[in-house]
Amino acid sequence: MNYRPLPLLSPIPPDIAAVADYEPYARERMSAAAWAYISGGAADEQTLADNHTAFRRLRIRQRVLADLNGAHTRLELFGDTFEHPIFLAPVAYQKLAHPGGELATVLGASAMRAGMVVSTQASVLLEDIASQAHSPLWFQLYIQPDRDFTLNLVRRAERAGYSALVLTVDAPVNGLRNREQRASFGLPTDITAVNLLGMHLPLPEQTVQAGADSLFGGPLLASAPTWKDVEWLVGITQLPVVLKGITSASDAQHAIACGAAGIIVSNHGGRTLDTLPATIDALPQVVQAVQQRVPVLLDGGIRRGTDIFKALALGASATLIGRPYVYGLAAAGAPGVAHVLHMLRTELEITMALAGRATLKDIAATALWE
Ligand code: FNR
Ligand code: LAC
Repeated sequence: MNYRPLPLLSPIPPDIAAVADYEPYARERMSAAAWAYISGGAADEQTLADNHTAFRRLRIRQRVLADLNGAHTRLELFGDTFEHPIFLAPVAYQKLAHPGGELATVLGASAMRAGMVVSTQASVLLEDIASQAHSPLWFQLYIQPDRDFTLNLVRRAERAGYSALVLTVDAPVNGLRNREQRASFGLPTDITAVNLLGMHLPLPEQTVQAGADSLFGGPLLASAPTWKDVEWLVGITQLPVVLKGITSASDAQHAIACGAAGIIVSNHGGRTLDTLPATIDALPQVVQAVQQRVPVLLDGGIRRGTDIFKALALGASATLIGRPYVYGLAAAGAPGVAHVLHMLRTELEITMALAGRATLKDIAATALWE
């Protein structure tokens, strides 16, 4: 390794006043390769950039002298009550950011009573994360080529007390991660997807027909999930199945027809298909197609309470953050994760107060400037 790890920030310095302020502190505590993996996006990173600029284009409509008595940010989702609409998105291999990985994250989430989505590719056992949680956990599922192993993963999540499954549907293959390639990113030997250990992988020679160096005809796409697998998953579990990675109206319709209990409008933080639209630009079409039959959530580019407010105004029930909490984790451990959540919730409350909206339900489309 060509870097000297710096100690975690303690106490958190006063120049961290906003979520973005964590970024340089996180960067200097990681190898260049880990930084490329976590902060980077696909190809030319146009979608990654758009996720931010699209929020910046929107303006909020002010409403003064509104009655804010009894104002709160509470919501109900899939039978659980949450204090605020800020969830931690699934992020793989969090030991890259902090030696405690997901175990530190779950402490930060619990301190702020935030819902956390645990990645299939977590670097800590899903049962160990659940044993430390004091707020609801959802399990993010990647359907594996080995369907029996996938089923067993679902049963493990159920037994450990996870309250929803988040099926990620936008990454049957990895995006074109040029920034990672240029930084020669590879997982260190002591960090792995521990929840997938023991899985049977298709042997390339069994499935590759022609053109051994082509993705098409290879084992990965041959076993990639389809809508049939969504129906299968909905059929084998009592847990709500939320589809993550939808940006179009027709896919949203399909998701509901297959029994999805919710939809997360996401472009994987700009990490899969470059030049997909910004999530906040895709949200209205999905909301329109869903017609309030299931909750719609959004992630991608959220860095301010005003961003959360804008997503809610355009019809999202809640939002998730990815990189911001990982930067808090890298810089300051569990307190950094809690601090990121706290700053965002405070910013959301200030936004609601200044825009005259006392509850999340009051944040309607009229809360944005046309
Ligand atoms: C992710 N994301 C992701 N999504 C998922 O469904 N399963 C996963 O294992 C991962 N892993 C992952 C790793 C890293 C390093 C990042 C940055 C992201 C995507 C994630 O859940 C979320 O969609 C985006 O991170 C949201 O965008 P922001 O908040 O990072 O801009
Ligand atoms: C990623 C995969 C793990 O975005 O979802 O890196």
